[in-house]
Amino acid sequence: MAVSPSQPDTAAIVVAAGRGERFGAPKQFLVAGGARLVDRAVETAAATCDEVVVVLPPDRAWDGPAVARAVPGGDTRAASVRAGLAAIDPHAEIVVVHDAARPLATPELFELVIDTVRAGADGAVPATPVTDTIKRVDGDRVVETVDRAGLIAVQTPQAFRASALRAAHEHGSEATDDAALVEANGGAVVVVAGDPRNLKVTTVADLPIVEALLAEVEATS
Ligand code: CTP
Ligand code: MG
Repeated sequence: MAVSPSQPDTAAIVVAAGRGERFGAPKQFLVAGGARLVDRAVETAAATCDEVVVVLPPDRAWDGPAVARAVPGGDTRAASVRAGLAAIDPHAEIVVVHDAARPLATPELFELVIDTVRAGADGAVPATPVTDTIKRVDGDRVVETVDRAGLIAVQTPQAFRASALRAAHEHGSEATDDAALVEANGGAVVVVAGDPRNLKVTTVADLPIVEALLAEVEATS
């Protein structure tokens, strides 16, 4: 279907309103390899989606690449996504949610999740195999070793049919990703091949790894 420029078909929400408690600072505003993490995330979203909304800490003004709108976030990631959902163009058919703390997501990965929703899924999430052995614990005591075969580690960008994402967020539920809310609401979420380089900066130990990966990407592009 032809889409006029005033009616975006795909909208991206880049969530950048976190406090970075595990890192010790709002890491999404740090510079790695010459650009802020949030600016890299916004630029890749803008290259693949018709409009981008960035969700910011309430005390911060947007000073990065051009976006359709910048809005204040909430106390939790889910609340920040809801703030983004209220700010995107209501005509967008597909909504992509992406963490500002993942500067290495490629345009190809955005396109893959978008195309998977276009092909009929309610949601599409990139995932990589779990390589460590996973155990369930009670305090420091191991209760169970979980069978790794059926487990995956999930990343962003995550794409959704806009109606499915709105319905999933309608009741203000909490989860660490949007797919969990869409699944809980009965939506069909499909897994696509994630990118092992698409790391999220979570602790200070992640930053030098992300910097090395960014340098490698620069050298080969
Ligand atoms: N995020 C957000 N609003 C929140 C919490 C998180 O927009 N209230 C965003 C973060 O800015 C980040 C993404 O969601 O880009 C993934 O969250 P996470 O890595 O957990 O970041 P923080 O919540 O900031 O870190 P921490 O959990 O260590 O406090
Ligand atoms: Mg968090």
